[in-house]
Amino acid sequence: MKIDQIASSKRGTVPANLSFGEVFSDHMFSHSYSPETGWTDACIKEYQNISLSPAAAVFHYGQEVFEGLKAYRTEAGGVNLFRPEENFKRFNRSAARMVMPVVDEAFHLEALLALIKLDQQWVPDQAGSSLYIRPAMIATTPKLGLAASSEYIHFIISGPVGPYYKDGFNPISVYVSETQRRAVVGGVGDAKTGGNYAASLNMSEEVARRGFTQVLWLDAIHGRYIEEVGAMNICFVYEGEKIVTPELSGSILPGITRDSILKLAPTLGYEVSEERLDIDTILTDIESGKVTEVFGCGTAAAISPVGKLTLREREYVINDNLTGPVSKRLYAELTGIQYGTKEDPFDWITPVVS
Ligand SMILES: Cc1ncc(COP(=O)(O)O)c(C=O)c1O
Repeated sequence: MKIDQIASSKRGTVPANLSFGEVFSDHMFSHSYSPETGWTDACIKEYQNISLSPAAAVFHYGQEVFEGLKAYRTEAGGVNLFRPEENFKRFNRSAARMVMPVVDEAFHLEALLALIKLDQQWVPDQAGSSLYIRPAMIATTPKLGLAASSEYIHFIISGPVGPYYKDGFNPISVYVSETQRRAVVGGVGDAKTGGNYAASLNMSEEVARRGFTQVLWLDAIHGRYIEEVGAMNICFVYEGEKIVTPELSGSILPGITRDSILKLAPTLGYEVSEERLDIDTILTDIESGKVTEVFGCGTAAAISPVGKLTLREREYVINDNLTGPVSKRLYAELTGIQYGTKEDPFDWITPVVS
């Protein structure tokens, strides 16, 4: 892998006010694929624009996949990655679904480690902040005939992001979509591909206008079974001790945070279960007080407590719209492992710099 470092005088610094996904680190990784050569020209270079033909397949048919993970600054000044190999496995599963070439997982990690080591001053140290990492692959063959592209670019960019909870660890309000669906079994809902997100924007914008933070998606066939929330999976806590999450239906994204909770929670004394969850049963159980907490889980927020669910213009309040003890505990344990303040019994951390 070629490394073209930029001069230290040209290097940037973490801005004081961090938002999400607007500032990027100095360098990027990229390589290109063609069927004749396989992956070639692997290099780390200055963050820069990509030049493509307007006929490139990605612009017309959405053949692209991506990932999202974070690097965390430890108290000792080191940098941790959290389960990066799971992101690379999911990246390849998404790629296979979208008829795109896979990237060797060990090489993907090697490239990421080299990139983050080089840009390590971009990993912020403000509490709750991190370096967000975005690997992506796009179809680049300039051809309008509807067929899989033969050429691709895979790249990794990164940028510092502020704490998700600027005003404290407060519950969000979620609107259950009745009219629009995100994905269908047999489609690409379980792949991390741009089209899923484009399809969700219309409803997300509408609910944002109405003052909600996120959309809860139901399955597309029955309009009845709970799938996931925006860019998070969702969990329901029964009686303060059992955590239930929708089973992987084929149309939801198998979240790495979701999987981590399913592994971590039993070690903290909670029962966990993956089930087909009927929205009406859940709402009845919220009303009767059996569901004591609801939270979203994903890389962006780790844990995101849900205080209100609205369906058919009726609002269901969970735990008096307060963050509950299970959400707090899981957030503390999970982020403790990520930032290196708690033990890592599952070997989930890959140190970039120790
Ligand atoms: C649609 C969707 N569901 C769930 C998740 C949570 O996945 P993870 O925990 O791997 O970030 C994400 C975020 O990547 C997402 O985009």
